[in-house]
Amino acid sequence: MRVGIAQTCPTFAERERNLRDAVDLLSRDVADLWVLPEFFASGYQFARSEEVRDLAEPVPDGPTVRALESFCQRHACFAGAGLPEAADGVVYNSAVLVGPRGFVSVYRKIHLFGEEKRWFAPGDIPFSVHEAGAARVGVMICFDHFFPESARSLALLGADILAHPANLIIPDLAQRTMTVRALENGVFAATANRVGEESRTGKTLRYTGQSQIVAPDGTALVRLSPDRVEVAVVEVDPATARTKRLTSHNDKLGDRRPEFYRT
Ligand code: ACM
Repeated sequence: MRVGIAQTCPTFAERERNLRDAVDLLSRDVADLWVLPEFFASGYQFARSEEVRDLAEPVPDGPTVRALESFCQRHACFAGAGLPEAADGVVYNSAVLVGPRGFVSVYRKIHLFGEEKRWFAPGDIPFSVHEAGAARVGVMICFDHFFPESARSLALLGADILAHPANLIIPDLAQRTMTVRALENGVFAATANRVGEESRTGKTLRYTGQSQIVAPDGTALVRLSPDRVEVAVVEVDPATARTKRLTSHNDKLGDRRPEFYRT
């Protein structure tokens, strides 16, 4: 199957335009599963709680999920992408998985990063894995990369591919951790980061691009530029993520000794 990453540069609060730009970008290539960045349609750097409230959307009945549904239906594909989700009177930093038959699932970011703790409620539902065509896909968001438990949970649930929407600002951090997450769990890891800057609060956030897809042996199949809006698509065989064999005597998941681990 073909897995694609889209590296976007949204303008804060210009949701209609950002959605249109993202759909145009995806139309440059063909994939069975697309991964888009965290908050790809809203922008990331919130300055006031009213902005968070105004840009948050119900899932699945909001404009971002509807736009993704329409794209996935037209192109017979799946997409994993991040958005601020309004639910239960709070806002979550969420990512949806959408397919040709519509909304599949929502994941709410468990490990909030920096100022996100001011604006968002921490995720309140466990990691989950879903069929997406030929692959089983697990979604995690940006800073979740720093916690090996995120990727490990998804691998133990049977994920072949980690869909990882991100808005990364620390150069070459998640690129390294996600390489290890892919290797140690024997899964594909598709990180879609954004580029550009936001300077809305007196602090400038510089997004680092370098979106990447890593194979279960830790090989980077593709890595994008640090500063350009672009896409990449690679052909992957999800079956290669289903054997966890490391040596003739070792299995990446089977050799775990959880009875000796602390949680
Ligand atoms: C991040 O979690 N957006 C760094």
